[in-house]
This record gives sequence, C-alpha cells and structure tokens, in this order.
Amino acid sequence: MPKSVRDILSMKNSRKITVITAYDYTTSQLCDKAGVDMLLVGDSAGMVMLGYDNTIPVTMDQMCLFTEAVARGRQNALVVADMPFMSYQSSKSQAIENAGRLVKSGADAVKLEGGVEIKDTVHAIVEIGIPVMGHIGFQPQTTTLQEGYKVQAKTRDAAVKLLDSAKALEKAGVFSIALEMVTRETSKIISGTISIPTIGIGSGPDCDGQVLVVHDVLGMYEKIKPKFAKRYLELSSEIVKAVESYKGDVVSGKFPGPEHSFSMDKLELEKLEKEIG
Ligand code: KIV
Repeated sequence: MPKSVRDILSMKNSRKITVITAYDYTTSQLCDKAGVDMLLVGDSAGMVMLGYDNTIPVTMDQMCLFTEAVARGRQNALVVADMPFMSYQSSKSQAIENAGRLVKSGADAVKLEGGVEIKDTVHAIVEIGIPVMGHIGFQPQTTTLQEGYKVQAKTRDAAVKLLDSAKALEKAGVFSIALEMVTRETSKIISGTISIPTIGIGSGPDCDGQVLVVHDVLGMYEKIKPKFAKRYLELSSEIVKAVESYKGDVVSGKFPGPEHSFSMDKLELEKLEKEIG
C-alpha cells in the first residue's frame, strides 16, 4: 500500500522525509525499492530527460507521460507530480483541470511553484480533494526569468516575505512545502513555524525532509552541477565506459558470443542445408 499524505504529515518532528525525483518506470522501481518516502515527477524532466535549457517549455502532455511511467513503477512511495509552467496560472478552472489530469495519470498529489500570490489557486485544488505540495524560494519556472540562479532569503525582508508565503500556503491547505535554495537560517525558521513538513533542496539540514534530482544523485547530468547536490555515483563516466566496451566488442567480433546466440535444431539445419545446396 503506497504511503498517504497523512503518513507524510505524521513524519514531521519524528523522522526526516526522503524524496527523490523520477521520470520513468525503471528509475521509479529502483528508487521505490530503496525506500524513499516520495517520488517527485519534477518538471526538471524537461532538462534532464528532454534536454531543454530550463523547465519553461515543459507541457502537460509530457508531465502526464512521465507521471504514468513513475506511477507504474512504485509500490510504496507517494507520487507527487509537478504542474508545469502556465498549466495553473490562467485560472482556477485551468489549474483544477490540469491537477486532475496528473491525478488521472497516477499522481497522488501535485506540486505548484509560487507563494502567497497563488494561495487561492492552491485552495481551489485542495478543496476538490487533490493534495498539493507548495514550492517557494528559488522557483525555476519564473525566478530564472527575473534574476537567474540565486540563493533566496539572504536578507531580513526577503526571509519575512518567504515566511509569509509559507504561512499563506499552509493556510491554503498544502500538505508540505518544497524550499529551494533558501538560506539555512530562513529554512530553519520556516520549518519551526509551520506545522506541515518542509522539504529542502539546497536549503540546509533543518528542513523536515530533503529532495534531490535523481540524475544529480547518480552523477548522470553534466550540464549543471549544483553545489547543494551530493553525487553518490559518477554514472555518466561509467555509462560511457560500458558503451565504449560494447562498441569495441562488436567491432572486434567478441560480441555476441555463443552464450548470447540461439541455435537451430541440428536435424532441421541439415534439412535446410540439403535444400539450399
Ligand atoms: O522539478 C524538480 O525537480 C523540482 C525539485 C527541484 C524540487 O521541483
């Protein structure tokens, strides 16, 4: 039985919540087997899976496809799917419709970037029964348009603004809030103030949980290597090495060997050889 939103809520102040992104069936299965609490179908898929420079071009159709695959691969983790840029900003009905599409694709909850300015939209989605995770601090869908990649809440005023957004989202009904690239002091204050879990990415150790992009954890994305992401493997060099070996074996005739080939019945082969001379 997959984890529920209630299970995630009950982890606040008892143990740290573990979240990792996934975008396909196989990775979902493996991360679920590793025991993470939540699988996030992030719109970072646009960058690590589709090769876009940022998350802005990601569409609902793409997010639904990734979500379907991840949902098929999980057994225990809660699946949260990102609502991509411009899938919820136009109107509450647009937001509800698109949140519904992600749930029909297999998500247990959706995540929206934005603070106090989207509280009514969040409330509208929560009201119809779809759990929502908030996402404040660095918001890749819009912050990049204004100021680029920058640590958030470095000043007193910025920290207060972020805290206000966290409180507004909590009041609107979110079950957790992702804090991206927020100063650790501000994350600590927010986590200690609100009653729902905070999930940090580049926001220090005092959040109630942590999320990382799976390609960063496995060392598979070379274009951007964020300071906050710990690389537990360097899989990209291992993959290149393996494919080089495969290529070498094919060229030299070492692969496929007898153990990789299928044989005809001896009598059948004799008949065939007789027939074709
Ligand atoms: O899309 C994503 O991977 C995310 C995380 C960075 C939280 O939103």
